[in-house]
Amino acid sequence: MAMTDHRLIAALTVFLAIAAATSVSGAAERLDPQSIKLPQMTPELNVGKLNYDAKCAACHGLNTAGTDQGPTFLHRVYHPGHHGDRAFYLAPKNGARAHHWRFGDMPPVAGITDSQIEKIIGYVRAVQAANGLF
Ligand code: HEC
Repeated sequence: MAMTDHRLIAALTVFLAIAAATSVSGAAERLDPQSIKLPQMTPELNVGKLNYDAKCAACHGLNTAGTDQGPTFLHRVYHPGHHGDRAFYLAPKNGARAHHWRFGDMPPVAGITDSQIEKIIGYVRAVQAANGLF
């Protein structure tokens, strides 16, 4: 009987360790920017990329790869069905509380306009699509 209890506890410990390792993480979500496929660029997407590189890439990474300051947008939680375009307007304007990861809060992005955000969304969605997120 005691033997069985020990085995049960050992199995449970392993299960909990795996659950903890796969649920929430920080820097583990970072990708290699060079491994990311770029979409067929258009003038509109180029404007989006320029704005993205200037205002978002410091944390969300070159080609949306992520950094140790912020998550990649190629993670499934940033699929448009989960974080729709509205989230992309709100986060730069108001900032975002840390809730998916352990990078800390996202501060508001100073001086960003709706039209810049619109172009950034177009670029991020195109990179997501090029990499099979949807
Ligand atoms: C100073 C670092 C930093 C910058 C700059 C930054 N972000 Fe973020 N962003 C973060 C972090 C960190 C999170 C993750 C918060 C969490 O969920 O734990 C995040 C999350 C987000 C989210 C998800 C918000 C939500 O509702 O969960 C969106 C959308 C986003 N960022 C868009 C942008 C865009 C667009 C830009 C550029 C205009 C940008 N971010 C610039 C750090 C940054």
